[in-house]
Parts: sequence; C-alpha cells; structure tokens
Amino acid sequence: MTSITYRDKTIELVPHVYEPAEDSFLLVDALLENIRNGDRVLEVGCGSGIVSVFASDIASMVVATDLNPHAVKCAAGNGVTVVRTDLYAGLKGTFDLIVFNPPYLPTSKNERLGGWDDLMLDGGPNGRRTIARFLKGIWELLSQGGRVLLLVSSLTGVSEVSRLMQDAGLAVEPVSESRHFFEQLVVLKGSK
Ligand SMILES: C[S@@+](CC[C@H](N)C(=O)[O-])C[C@H]1O[C@@H](n2cnc3c(N)ncnc32)[C@H](O)[C@@H]1O
Repeated sequence: MTSITYRDKTIELVPHVYEPAEDSFLLVDALLENIRNGDRVLEVGCGSGIVSVFASDIASMVVATDLNPHAVKCAAGNGVTVVRTDLYAGLKGTFDLIVFNPPYLPTSKNERLGGWDDLMLDGGPNGRRTIARFLKGIWELLSQGGRVLLLVSSLTGVSEVSRLMQDAGLAVEPVSESRHFFEQLVVLKGSK
C-alpha cells in the first residue's frame, strides 16, 4: 500500500484509485477557504477521500460518493463515510457545501484506458459529460444559500462550465486557480 501526505494529513492509496494530484490539492485549498463550521458536506467522486478527510475537521457531517468500488473501499479505509453510487443517486436531504473534482478531460473512444480507471479522467468528447449530468440535479440537493465547489480545467472550457452552472440556477465565481504545463486549473464556486 502507498500513501500521500498533503498539509497535515496522510492518505492511504490503493491501485485503480485516483492518486491525489494538483487538482485534488487545489480543491482541498478551496474547500478550506470556503467551508463554514457546521456545514453539511457532500463530496461527489471522492476517489481516495482526500477532500472529505479535510472537510471532516470542520463540517458537522460529510458524506462522499464514488462509482468505482476500489475508491469506495479506499476512502472508507481513510475514515470517510462513503456510498457507492452514480454521482448522488439515491441520496436524500440537502447539503450546505457540495464538492466535486470530476473526470474533466476531453476523451475520445480510442483514448479510453478500460475498466474503472476511465472514471478518473474521461469527461467524454468535450470534457463536460459528467459535469453536465452532475449539474442537472444539483439545485434540489443544495440548502438555501448552499454552495458548490467544482474543479475544472482550461481543457474542459471554464466559461462553458460556468454557463452550465448558471443554467442550473447558480451564481458563479472563480475562487482559486493554478497554472500547469498544459492546462490551467480553476475552482468555480456556484451559490444558490
Ligand atoms: C479526478 S478523480 C478525483 C478524486 C478525488 N476527489 C480527488 O480529488 O483526488 C474523479 C473521481 O470521480 C469518480 N467518478 C467519476 N464518475 C463518477 C460518477 N458518475 N459517479 C460517482 N463518482 C464518479 C471517479 O471514480 C474518481 O474517483
């Protein structure tokens, strides 16, 4: 088993689970700047559970989901309450803060890796396939005044994703960003 340390937390990793990288760390930093004491938090697509582990210090409750069974096992091993489901299917109630580092890379059929690993990165032909599905039902899941933190890349189309968030009824603003060799990562905050 391998592990990764970020800030004051060490996260255990297993094969076929997304290894936390710059995108995960940017989302953790944005979470820490935007979470409020007592928030009820949902993390969609938790992978190893790194973002939820940080949220647990401040939130009154954290629930995470992932479709990849390896990720569910890994996150549970890191102490996260995690449900295996598609996005947030079957979850009841509302959340004050919903966070998602989605599969955001534009991916053609012949670029797919096969198996569960595709869920980590494959955002469909324009990178926004999973994001669009995620945003469709988000309004009902958010408490009044609730916020969404969504990690996107310049490769995904930041303005296109902002528009999808606005179409979902949210007021949108970028809250953090970082530049990398082939992309710019941005965390968009959507508020109800
Ligand atoms: C880029 S990884 C992010 C993992 C982790 N949150 C992080 O920041 O390190 C995307 C995660 O979303 C999960 N995922 C992709 N599509 C999903 C879906 N439809 N429902 C639930 N989880 C999904 C993948 O299995 C993967 O763990």
